[in-house]
Amino acid sequence: MATYITTPIYYVNAMPHIGHAYTTLIADTYSRFRRLCNDDVRFQTGTDEHGEKIVQAADNEGVTPREYVDRISDTFRQSWPGLSIEPDNFIRTTDSDHIKVVQEILQKVYEQGDIYFSEYSGHYCKGCERFLTEKEMVDGLCPDHQTSPDEITEQNYFFRMSKYQEPLIKHIKENPEYITPERYRNEVLSFLSEPLEDLCISRPTSRLTWGIPLPFDDKFVTYVWFDALINYLTGLGYPDGPDFDKYWSVAEHVIGKDILKPHAIYWPTMIMAMGLAPYQRLHVHGYWNVDETKMSKSIGNVVRPGELLEEFGVDTVRYFLLREMSFGLDSSFSYEAVTARRNSDLANDLGNLFSRVLTMIGKYADFKVPEIDKPSVTEEDRLLVDAMEEMIAEYSRCMNSFEFHKGLQAVWGVIGMMNRYIVTNAPWELAKEEDQAGRLNTVLYFLADSLRILALVLGPVMPVAAGKMAAALGMEELMDAATLQEDGCWGKMVAGTVINKGEQLFPRLDKKKKGKQEKQQSQKQKKKKKKDAPEVDMEGLITFEQFGKVELRVAEIIAAEKIKKADKLLKLTLKAPEERTVVAGIAKHYTPEELVGKKVIIVANLKPAKLMGVTSQGMVLAAKEKDGEGNERLVLSTVSGDIAVGSGVA
Ligand code: MSP
Repeated sequence: MATYITTPIYYVNAMPHIGHAYTTLIADTYSRFRRLCNDDVRFQTGTDEHGEKIVQAADNEGVTPREYVDRISDTFRQSWPGLSIEPDNFIRTTDSDHIKVVQEILQKVYEQGDIYFSEYSGHYCKGCERFLTEKEMVDGLCPDHQTSPDEITEQNYFFRMSKYQEPLIKHIKENPEYITPERYRNEVLSFLSEPLEDLCISRPTSRLTWGIPLPFDDKFVTYVWFDALINYLTGLGYPDGPDFDKYWSVAEHVIGKDILKPHAIYWPTMIMAMGLAPYQRLHVHGYWNVDETKMSKSIGNVVRPGELLEEFGVDTVRYFLLREMSFGLDSSFSYEAVTARRNSDLANDLGNLFSRVLTMIGKYADFKVPEIDKPSVTEEDRLLVDAMEEMIAEYSRCMNSFEFHKGLQAVWGVIGMMNRYIVTNAPWELAKEEDQAGRLNTVLYFLADSLRILALVLGPVMPVAAGKMAAALGMEELMDAATLQEDGCWGKMVAGTVINKGEQLFPRLDKKKKGKQEKQQSQKQKKKKKKDAPEVDMEGLITFEQFGKVELRVAEIIAAEKIKKADKLLKLTLKAPEERTVVAGIAKHYTPEELVGKKVIIVANLKPAKLMGVTSQGMVLAAKEKDGEGNERLVLSTVSGDIAVGSGVA
């Protein structure tokens, strides 16, 4: 089988931070996992180098766009090896083969009548490099950049995106795996339930020259998204390279939630217009915040991968990012959280297990993996084997569905079991009694073989640490060619293999002292929390003052999804105006799809509470009625007028 996995190509107007690192790490981990499944894998990343933002950034530095993009693109390229991220291809939109492919595609789509010339007036946001619809703006501003869009009227070329709206809806509905996690699929379907406008795909050269000229009108350059998305084809040698045939039909894209629309709407409709098969899957992840705050240059809290690597090393950084974030949801980064994961999961659970087993094989078996003594095999050993097999199945399922955190939970499940196995079997006691020599050998073999399997499954996540584990277990050379099908089975450790204890995998770290900046921020947050804390006494009547403490706000539902094993609950993502999650008991009354876009009233200052594992940050108001048979019906209190999200309710 073949696998083709891509990341977004990053704008070169900013330096790489943990957000970029996370997406690229996901793609690297998945590509390593698919290789472990014996796939023929191609993994592509790169840089997006045209457009106004880039010209502005170059201007700010007083260099030409060409000099500028060369330098920053190189910074991105150089960032990846330190994180053990190994793409097969690094593409740049300024590469000559890419420019040629974009022009060929434009010409083809133009000739078939799917690109036309027209006049357009709209609100253009430079930061987004696109026109915003009225609905997208908040108080006349771009919600992402907090800037006022330029009012522009100009003649431009348009792509007939609307023509492909129905086929796209059909494809998404027929292929539940096309866009995952589900909340993003719902978001796209909800967006597509309104008529789709055609896409403006050119910029006049009077306004922008740093772009790819339209092949049929040299007074225009291509809109940056029409240029950028095509990178996924160029990188395969489209239209007739051998790699194109091999990999296009299995293409999978990983993106952050910020660029869902271009990938889930512009790109599939462009692909349809080109007459190509759709990409296979789109995997959408959430955002990394820092200490619960949006990462931004102006706040000064941007975390760079280099700083992290210096402090924690590559394995801990990779493990943390993959384990801490539930794929699809936002997550908060902090140095304390990394230190905690390092000390508990890596140093205590995995590191200790590994060094204990190797020490015991050294001490009791002279550094050679002993042979199993069959008569001494017990039910507990068989349970360990069963658990290993279940773990491999669950791990594989999760890695394939991009639920990396759950895959790692499954691995840590067996690590816990192995640690308990050591305690209950107490090899140090067995070593004291001569007639227990057979049992001692069996226990050591079971532990050694389990470690071998751990090294295998941890390879995609922590390639350096897994390599060290493999070397210590005498299986270094085998690792490169190992596959889960062949080597993921029990009992492949060859008795007599010489092991060496090697270095400690994960020395414990001192609890990180908070940096100055971190301290200031958390103090600010503490103060804010105190000020906001409500003390509403709900006994009897309440005063105006007490009621005034309940903060009611207008919020827009931007995503909704079911919660597993909770048939009454829905998880809502709201804009209020900051993004927050609220769990609401309305699953019996509304489908997730019909909720997206509704403006509701929430209690915004309710203490967060965990419901079925999801932290709910507020409450949605609903009217409740009972029919004659006592059945309850809930109707959300919605706001019908045109009012900004975040407005208070009087
Ligand atoms: N150039 C476009 C993509 C074109 S793809 C054909 C672009 N570039 S970007 O530099 O802005 O990168 C956006 C991507 O970076 C997000 O989709 C996500 O993958 C990653 N991230 C940027 N900030 C992030 C966080 N704070 N958290 C997680 N990932 C984020 O958009």
